[in-house]
Amino acid sequence: MTENHSKSKFHFDTPEGVSKSSAEKIASSLLKGCAEILKGGIGILTETVQFMELFRVGRLDFVPRADDIFLVTYPRSGTTWMQMILYQLASRGNMDFTHICQVAPWFERVISFNVMSAEAIEAILSPRIFKSHLSYRWIPKGQCRYIYVMRNGKDVAVSFFHFYKSHLGFKGDFSEFFDLFMAGKVQFGSWFKHVSGWLEHRDNPNILFLEYENLIQDLEGCLRRIIQFCGFDVSSEQFPEIMEKCSFAFMKKHESKFDHITATIWEKGYKQNAFLRKGEIGSAKTYLNEGQEKLFEQKSEKYIGKFGANDDLHIPANPHSSTRNP
Ligand code: A3P
Repeated sequence: MTENHSKSKFHFDTPEGVSKSSAEKIASSLLKGCAEILKGGIGILTETVQFMELFRVGRLDFVPRADDIFLVTYPRSGTTWMQMILYQLASRGNMDFTHICQVAPWFERVISFNVMSAEAIEAILSPRIFKSHLSYRWIPKGQCRYIYVMRNGKDVAVSFFHFYKSHLGFKGDFSEFFDLFMAGKVQFGSWFKHVSGWLEHRDNPNILFLEYENLIQDLEGCLRRIIQFCGFDVSSEQFPEIMEKCSFAFMKKHESKFDHITATIWEKGYKQNAFLRKGEIGSAKTYLNEGQEKLFEQKSEKYIGKFGANDDLHIPANPHSSTRNP
């Protein structure tokens, strides 16, 4: 570790051979100064500052540890479920948290909103699990592992519609929401671009692609793939309990540990216990009309078709992706 690096707020265990360049360090200091001025001096606490902080810390300062795990999704694709799965596997069944984000923090949010200090992020024991909705372009790059969970886009649209209504005060009907979704004018932008952007890198052995539908149909098989990919040490005796804790029924029963804005939704009078909605495959069928189905298929073909994925996003197995770079 260089002297400069050791002075930085972050003291991540830099993987051998990976360090930040002088240009990155200078850019980081400049951005930090600008953010301070905007926040304190002019009193503008805007999305611009949040973005600057994310860029500064996430792109310039943060060096992933080799055993970090980034769990990445487009929203409503099973992120919270995978946070729970990863934490259960990593901790061998520990439920000692008030909210899952304490033990598997939302990377861009804790940085942008100053929810966790750099020291707090650093203090998380390995393997650190970070949830993220960042596109491939923006995710911190390193020798860590990435798990990307995909879900049928139409089901995502339906789930997102309900989330918009229950958590974001959306008053429109499904058709209005669907148009926004298709145009990418929803939080985190276009589902099509997000998924295809990650799929471009499906040959990267450090990325494990999983499907929500597969998790539902074969949770045990998926857990075994995750264990192998991450190198977790889970005994066969611990397995049934972990499976039980990752079930929809168990998580629904402990929903406050998963719904990140429980307190806020109470204050604002929004509906509680609406975050983990149904957890089923195919509910889009009763929502999308013929025209919407067609629109979706056309766009899906354009972005996802080239990967040979079918409608349920089943990606053909990649012969090169079973092993990970040392
Ligand atoms: P539905 O709205 O279709 O029910 P995210 O965490 O990415 O926002 O995804 C939320 C979706 O994942 C919700 O879908 C939620 O019910 C589902 N989900 C969460 N935990 C689950 C579990 N243990 N089993 C199945 N689905 C789960």
